[in-house]
Amino acid sequence: MDKFRISGRRKLSGNVAISGSKNAALPIMVASLLASGKFKIENVPNLRDTRTMAKLLRMIGAKIDFSNGEMKIDTTNAKNPEAPYDLVKTMRASIYVLGPLLAKFGKAKVSFPGGCAIGPRPIDLHIKVMKELGANVEVKHGYIQAECNQLVGNKISFQKRSVGATANALMASVLAKGETIIENAAQEPEISNLIDFLNKMGANIKGNGTDILRISGVSKLNPVEIEIIPDRIEAGTFLLAGAITKSEIAITNCIPEHLKSLIEKLEQAGFKFEIKNNEIKIIPVKTIRPVDIITKPYPDFPTDLQAQFMALMTLSNGKCFIEETIFQDRFMHIAELNRLDADIRIEKNIAIINGVKSLSGAEVMASDLRASAALVLAGLAAKGETIIHRIYHIDRGYEKIEEKLSNLGAKIERIGD
Ligand code: EPZ
Repeated sequence: MDKFRISGRRKLSGNVAISGSKNAALPIMVASLLASGKFKIENVPNLRDTRTMAKLLRMIGAKIDFSNGEMKIDTTNAKNPEAPYDLVKTMRASIYVLGPLLAKFGKAKVSFPGGCAIGPRPIDLHIKVMKELGANVEVKHGYIQAECNQLVGNKISFQKRSVGATANALMASVLAKGETIIENAAQEPEISNLIDFLNKMGANIKGNGTDILRISGVSKLNPVEIEIIPDRIEAGTFLLAGAITKSEIAITNCIPEHLKSLIEKLEQAGFKFEIKNNEIKIIPVKTIRPVDIITKPYPDFPTDLQAQFMALMTLSNGKCFIEETIFQDRFMHIAELNRLDADIRIEKNIAIINGVKSLSGAEVMASDLRASAALVLAGLAAKGETIIHRIYHIDRGYEKIEEKLSNLGAKIERIGD
């Protein structure tokens, strides 16, 4: 398994262009199953997860060409409504096929996704939605088996915000008979990108950008072209790379509006920013002030930047608290950061960080996608050499990360076992 070797404490400089959003590309790729014909999706990031999703769509019968960020999907012969275990176990987002397969083909057989390092990752809300839209859903032998000749619109009210379940509810209801109302819908930008895509295909969805969505079912959708929005989590990760190495760098191809909650917290820590159009420049500080964060659904501070922000806080000049409210086990990075001489302890789902003068390089282990990003950031700031094992985690969600960091002046290389 590949590792990263990082030599820390090097200043970064220059610009880095942000790739398309993994979490927008995945549902949009699956939503193409709702119409028959040829789609073109621009700015798709080349990641393990997008390649896995392409594999799943091919198993369903779609034809896919994917190169240089452009993905062509032909769903004319996509007719096999099944997502098998050996694929679903590698990517939870496979659950997204449940809604489209039910809506288009009247049946779906999707392997029950396992948990992962950040928690059990239940899918009860996804199943609840399909039942509320009239499907007969059984879970047996590790598979979700759903059937319904015609889904019927209904009122869906989520007790808790769920990005995935909101996406599945949208993709199931656009071809349902009658009106569906989704209350307490997720408002992440990736959901907005999906709604734009579905409406362009001929769906009738109102309320984009709010937590109440009204869908009037239509009889048919058509293949279209769409561009994936920039990845706000990759963008935030690179801003934090500039912050933790006390470097002035700029990120381009981003949407500053999507990063407001992170920018506010970094300004509280003392950093300054120059923002224009789709570019953000971070101006470093000598002393990093400690800042508390609580992760919440968009537009508040994103759980997907919690680990990376914690890496920065290990070098603050005081004490701060980080509360993770979305996932119950999203603190796997703490033990590894402490191996780099950070001083972090946990009380329930709150991490208490005492800033230290410096981190020192060591061998560490990546446990999940964003934890591995946090370890890369810490390695960039640590004295000496850091080796990060199991970086296949990071390849799921960051396109060419070592190349992008090297172009900014970091000393990072991928080494095989
Ligand atoms: C999406 O996951 C993202 N993944 C995650 O990004 C992100 O962390 C998460 O949303 C929150 O923003 C993709 O978009 C592919 P949820 P998802 O449903 O949809 C609970 C990354 O690093 N829940 O919004 O799985 C769930 O356990 C990944 O790119 C249920 O209880 O997240 C969690 O506590 C990690 N029942 C909370 O809701 C359900 O049926 C929010 O989860 C579904 C979720």
